[in-house]
Amino acid sequence: MKNIDLNVKIGNLELKNPVMPASGTWGYGLEYITEINPEILGAVIVKGLSLEPSKGNPHPRVVETPSGLLNAVGLENIGIKNFIETRLPVLSKFNTPVITNIYGKTESDYTELASIIEMEEKISAIEVNISCPNVKKGGLAFGTSPETCFNLVSKIRRKTTKPLIVKLTPNVTDIKPIAKSAEDAGADAVSLINTITGMVIDINTKKPMLANVTGGLSGPAIRPVALRMVYEACSVVKIPVIGIGGIVNHEDALSFIIAGASAVQVGTGNFINPKTCEKIISGITRFMKKNKIAAISDLRGTIITS
Ligand SMILES: Cc1cc2nc3c(=O)[nH]c(=O)nc-3n(C[C@H](O)[C@H](O)[C@H](O)COP(=O)(O)O)c2cc1C
Repeated sequence: MKNIDLNVKIGNLELKNPVMPASGTWGYGLEYITEINPEILGAVIVKGLSLEPSKGNPHPRVVETPSGLLNAVGLENIGIKNFIETRLPVLSKFNTPVITNIYGKTESDYTELASIIEMEEKISAIEVNISCPNVKKGGLAFGTSPETCFNLVSKIRRKTTKPLIVKLTPNVTDIKPIAKSAEDAGADAVSLINTITGMVIDINTKKPMLANVTGGLSGPAIRPVALRMVYEACSVVKIPVIGIGGIVNHEDALSFIIAGASAVQVGTGNFINPKTCEKIISGITRFMKKNKIAAISDLRGTIITS
């Protein structure tokens, strides 16, 4: 089998393959260019950006856990304007869509960010983070009820014609009504999951290992939870679902696609090996050739539950 079709569509955005680095684990898209040519990626998703630069949370803010990573970085970033002026001109020279992940404390922060991005031809899509557990205001607050999710996404939708991806939190009782509310509000895709709130204590000092006390758990430890939530989200929405959570190899990525995801993001896996995305893309291609699957869309949602 010669031609394997890995193309995926998110709104009107065409991705050459379904594999992207997850926000916050790939810097501003340029930090890893010595490791991976960005042009092989489905898209580059940059660190969460806010209107103003942010210093994030006090240190220590990252600790390793069994098969996982607990972080409370708290959305440290250079701010949207600095990103557009200093990083975007370089990043946009590569033939790969640039997706900006955004975060705000209030609804108007989000809508203002969307209006700024709308003017930037070189930004292909927006991923809206309504799911960060490590900031005191905003973020997660919008992602835990269908009503607040619907209201925020509707307002952002009015400000932008670009493909809109809404990134959901796993820190909820039922993901289905929240995924549906994002779709009803006009999202072109939902991505999930962000990190799961967790905590580690040093028994000698009796202090939490993170200055923020709690953090967000990521990495292989969260994969079964992520896969279950992606499967549930896929059962209620028609828009593409982007699977995230503990994906470190092509088998992991394929399991999300079989569960119904259109594409995947790789986060903590990049810290284990910066070439993880590249390996996943070639692994998926090998699997498809071996199993005579012509298009990745033929595999999507082929899960057999009975
Ligand atoms: C250090 C770190 C920073 C992160 N920063 C962001 C961020 O800025 N915006 C966001 O939406 N998600 C952020 N995330 C969440 C990841 O994008 C991803 O949803 C999560 O880590 C689960 O995927 P993984 O298990 O493959 O890492 C961050 C995760 C980590 C580990």
